[in-house]
Formats: sequence, C-alpha cells, structure tokens
Amino acid sequence: MIHASVDVRPASEKDLEAINDIYNHYVAETHVTFDDEPMTMEVRREWFSHYAEAGRHRLMVATESGQVAGYASSSRFRPKPGYLTSVETSVYLSPDAVGKGVGARLYTELFKSLEGEDLHRAYAGIALPNPASIALHEKFAFKRVALFTEQGRKFGRYWDVAWFEKPLGGET
Ligand SMILES: CC(C)(COP(=O)(O)OP(=O)(O)OC[C@H]1O[C@@H](n2cnc3c(N)ncnc32)[C@H](O)[C@@H]1OP(=O)(O)O)[C@@H](O)C(=O)NCCC(=O)NCCS
Repeated sequence: MIHASVDVRPASEKDLEAINDIYNHYVAETHVTFDDEPMTMEVRREWFSHYAEAGRHRLMVATESGQVAGYASSSRFRPKPGYLTSVETSVYLSPDAVGKGVGARLYTELFKSLEGEDLHRAYAGIALPNPASIALHEKFAFKRVALFTEQGRKFGRYWDVAWFEKPLGGET
C-alpha cells in the first residue's frame, strides 16, 4: 500500500517547521515521546545541526504533494566516543499519514543511506503501547532486547519502554 506520490529525501532547513509541528503533536497528545513541552524552533534548529547528508547521523523526510508527511533520523546513541558505532533511530509521521507505508519508505531510505558507514548497531526505544512502531521496527529486523519497566513518567503515570536492536554493517 505504498503511496506512489510519496518522495523520500534528506531533510533541509526548510522542512524544520513541518517536522516540529509533527513532533509537537505527539508531545502534546501521546506518550510515544517523553518530552512534555512543545519543542521551540530554536531548539529544533540546534537539533538539525547534528545531521548531515553524509556520515552516521542522517535525517530523511517523506513528502506527499510537496507537504512533509514524516521524518526519520539516525542520531548519536550516547555522547561517549565508544558509542559512535551505535545510532538511535526514530520516525514520526503526520497523523494523517500513518498506516500507509510511509514509515517503511522512510526507514528503507534511511538504512540505505547508512550502508557503508562505520556503524554496528541501531537502537529504538519504544514507549508502550505502540503496536505500529513495534510492527515497523520488526519489519526492519529490529529485535526486542530489553523491557525497561516504568522508565518514563508522563500524563501522571509511568510507561514501560521496550528497546529494540538491529545489527548494521553486515555483521552481527
Ligand atoms: C510508528 C509509525 C512511524 C509507523 O509508520 P507507518 O507508516 O504507520 O507504518 P507502515 O504503514 O509503514 O507499516 C509498517 C508495518 O507495520 C504494520 N503496522 C502499521 N500500523 C500497525 C498497527 N497499528 N498495528 C499493527 N501493525 C501495524 C504494517 O502492517 C506494516 O507491516 P507489513 O508491511 O508487514 O504489513 C507511525 O505509525 C507513526 O508515526 N506513529 C506515531 C509516532 C510514533 O509512534 N513514532 C514512533 C515512536 S517509537
């Protein structure tokens, strides 16, 4: 069910407002991210400075009829240099774009772009429940390796987070 008119490309500065709007919807309405205040554009621009069109840390956007429908990123897992061969991946779609294969298109292009990079593991932390995100990550060969119970608190309650891992670079 892949939407023929969806295009996936590296993100540019012009996409940041749309990216921020998508993300802030999930901040306000859901537990899938543990941010609890809308991200400002200033913070968003600083965040964008960590990505490039080469290297380990990439940001892809999906567009449909010129509108940003979602984005996917590979980010530093932790700041210490020994973690550089690990990335944390993340994907968010506009609410009207979910369930149409756009997440899979974004991950396909993201992981294609990372081929040949000096990377060994990708991780995704999924606050539960989130069946769509689990299905997407399992489709891309992520395996659940941990369940952290009550790892985050939002909306006055605690949430479990399942951590998923995917080997990269052709070796396990
Ligand atoms: C999670 C998300 C990125 C998935 O992207 P998507 O475009 O909706 O998913 P796709 O249509 O590409 O589907 C990928 C797979 O998941 C399955 N899937 C999608 N939604 C599902 C659901 N609600 N329940 C079970 N499986 C689901 C699809 O059937 C597909 O598997 P298949 O190819 O074997 O049929 C998207 O739903 C989203 O942005 N959700 C809100 C934000 C979010 O939770 N982000 C992740 C934070 S960890």
